[in-house]
Amino acid sequence: MCGIVGYAGENSAASVIIESLKKLEYRGYDSAGISILGSGIDTYKSVGKIVNLEATIPEGLSGNIGIGHTRWATHGRPSTINAHPHTSGNPCKISVVHNGIIENYMALKEQLTAEGYEFKSETDTEVIAHLLHKHIYGKPDGREAKCELLTGLREALKEIEGSYALAVLCADEQGKLVLARKDSPLVIGLGKGENFAASDVTAFLNYTRDVIFVNDFETAVLTPNSVEIFDREGKVREKKIEKIEWDFEAAEKAGYEHFMLKEIHEQVSAIHNTLAGKVSELEGTIDLKELNMADEEIRKLSRVQILACGTSWHAGLLGKYLFEQLAGIHCDIDICSEYRYRSPVISDGTLAIAITQSGETADTLAAVREIMSYNCPTLAITNVVGSTITREANSVLYTRAGPEIGVAATKTFSTQLTLLYLLAVKFALSRGKLSPDYVKGFITGLRKIPGQIQQILNQKEAVKECAENFAHSDNYFFLGRNLNYPIALEGALKLKEISYLHAEGFAAGELKHGPIALLEKGTPVVTIATKGQTYDKVLSNIKEVKARDATVIAVADNKDTEIGKYADVVLTIPPSSELLSPLLSVVVLQLLAYYTALARGCSIDKPRNLAKSVTVE
Ligand code: F6R
Repeated sequence: MCGIVGYAGENSAASVIIESLKKLEYRGYDSAGISILGSGIDTYKSVGKIVNLEATIPEGLSGNIGIGHTRWATHGRPSTINAHPHTSGNPCKISVVHNGIIENYMALKEQLTAEGYEFKSETDTEVIAHLLHKHIYGKPDGREAKCELLTGLREALKEIEGSYALAVLCADEQGKLVLARKDSPLVIGLGKGENFAASDVTAFLNYTRDVIFVNDFETAVLTPNSVEIFDREGKVREKKIEKIEWDFEAAEKAGYEHFMLKEIHEQVSAIHNTLAGKVSELEGTIDLKELNMADEEIRKLSRVQILACGTSWHAGLLGKYLFEQLAGIHCDIDICSEYRYRSPVISDGTLAIAITQSGETADTLAAVREIMSYNCPTLAITNVVGSTITREANSVLYTRAGPEIGVAATKTFSTQLTLLYLLAVKFALSRGKLSPDYVKGFITGLRKIPGQIQQILNQKEAVKECAENFAHSDNYFFLGRNLNYPIALEGALKLKEISYLHAEGFAAGELKHGPIALLEKGTPVVTIATKGQTYDKVLSNIKEVKARDATVIAVADNKDTEIGKYADVVLTIPPSSELLSPLLSVVVLQLLAYYTALARGCSIDKPRNLAKSVTVE
């Protein structure tokens, strides 16, 4: 997501920080900023490229302690005001850069506003600056520090829920910057007479390769000549110094060979971020305030119309199943390039949901404009804050997956699914179709998904071996039923996009209505055979495939003892409910596509003829 950097040394902090921010440009960002500690704190921010930020900084700006940030918006549109660092005090006493999401920022903002703190931005981060100020200076116009920055930070963190990597400056504590981490990456670089901090090592790889990784709940104090790390209770921690051997290109990908593989792994944290602040396991409730719909309005809905393209359309197709099965709402789904030309009938009580990771797909925008011309309320699900769709739709839910650089969508797909699950269950709750007790169980299951994805990733060698064995095939088929049908379509799309293999996804029951004619001896047929109401039917389909001498690669629960009798290869996922297992099965199919493309020597992150965002019709 965002990139943070910090510097304490003998050189000009502004120059080192600008260089470090440039090294983080590959992650994608919409604005940037720096704060330099001199006699006070000077802050400069700008939207767009780092060169724009550079242009705002006075030449020869002195100060050798500073912090910087590249922002990739999650709360509040891209703008200079929303760019970090965020500050508190007049004159500025505290400056903060943050990577992560503060889940309880609304409650903290209300409380701090009531205490007299004035908020300038729409971000969650600004609450940290004011909260810190409050703990250190007591009140908004407080001038005298009542405690040290580190003590104030530790106290403030007790009130914060969510994820953070923080770098903080305090005008009254010269010669140092302070760091904190929970659930967001943070690493310290050790130099001679200078020390660095960043959200990823690429930021300072030009200066040092000796690093200390900061762990959750640790805080740190950086000066030019010292690095001290503390545990949650404030006790000093001895930390191992590690040497980074990666070259710059490998470091950009955090050591992964491709962005796509990195992003497949990032699904663990991405889904966690999507859920942040939206679910209460204790109460069995789902909070989607961005939807701007009261329960009463949700009850009045008679139809949902989903609009999307490509992978986002596959997410939407699963959404259709969920809205109908869980909430009992009629749901249609259209491919956007078809929708606008097919004279759709739009009835009262329809909610349109446009799904687009980029928020810029021309066909999707055109379909949205079409449906909005009938005054149909429209909700956008997107990953890009400030994208065109967010300015046109009536309401927006963000996937918060962080920038996706690989052209093939992976983490944006699973986070789109996550939001669709939340929406469908929320609608079902409002319409009395599900009980809070059921929803509690659902939330417990959903919260387990990131950990279960990690288990799948831990066994990725099995998927790799399978991919290598079938990488020479001419055709690949993917079968799934019910909730797994959209996943079969997505598995086929991923494979064809990056490995250039011919791949088709089918509803398993459709096989005998035509596609079965394509099966030959050895044709790989990936079949999603997780436990559920159609399991036995899927086993019958597997037998049909086997009877044509094709090869079955089954995706199944790791507790399934039966499937091995029928399938040639079994790729397993941890047991999950029938409802949620698609979030796991898709990870296996993403890995299968990735390793097949790798074995075939394809250009994985930039497949031929494809663009990350399709802005033409
Ligand atoms: C596939 C893929 C595309 C996009 C499609 C829509 O990996 O990325 O199929 O899903 O071009 O893009 P968005 O979601 O940006 O509207």
